[in-house]
Amino acid sequence: MDALDVLSLEHRHIQRVLDVLERAVERGRAGEFVSASLFLRTANFLLTYVDGSHHAKEMVLFQTMLAHQLPLNPGLLAQVSGEHGTGGEQAKALQRAAEATLREGMDPGSMLAAAEAYLQLHRGHTDVEETQVFPLARRLLPAPVLERMRTRFARIEASHGPLVDAAEVMLRAFAPTRPSRALAVSSVRSF
Ligand SMILES: [Fe+2]
Ligand SMILES: [Fe+2]
Repeated sequence: MDALDVLSLEHRHIQRVLDVLERAVERGRAGEFVSASLFLRTANFLLTYVDGSHHAKEMVLFQTMLAHQLPLNPGLLAQVSGEHGTGGEQAKALQRAAEATLREGMDPGSMLAAAEAYLQLHRGHTDVEETQVFPLARRLLPAPVLERMRTRFARIEASHGPLVDAAEVMLRAFAPTRPSRALAVSSVRSF
């Protein structure tokens, strides 16, 4: 697995977390209870692993592409780099809104809106990377360059731990809890 495979794999794991977040937003918009603490955990995941790890790795890729003077569409890297900054700000906004909902028990509307803004930005952002940035890097960056990039990725990851593992933890946190068999039996008997 080379550096570009690592980034694409991370996209898939980030998307799985965002899919469960999106379903939670839909439930909240339908008037169902949503857990502000889960939204807060998601915001922390986005800040630590998406902004702090995945985006940091992509910035290494973008700098390498510039250094090798790849024939990029002017403004493309500025656009995706700028979206990293916006994504980080939106994740902080989600964190603040979830904290306020949790602390003050206020209406989750602003927390849901913050999550929706993040989801919308991220969807288009990943599409551009997968369809325009990564294929160009795959075609034109020499294998030894990708290998050196992989080493730099490992250093970035060392300070956070693997994104893939953190995404799995988030998916388990969102999974509906099932009552244990003993609890289910005692519930049935009590009626
Ligand atoms: Fe990105
Ligand atoms: Fe990305």
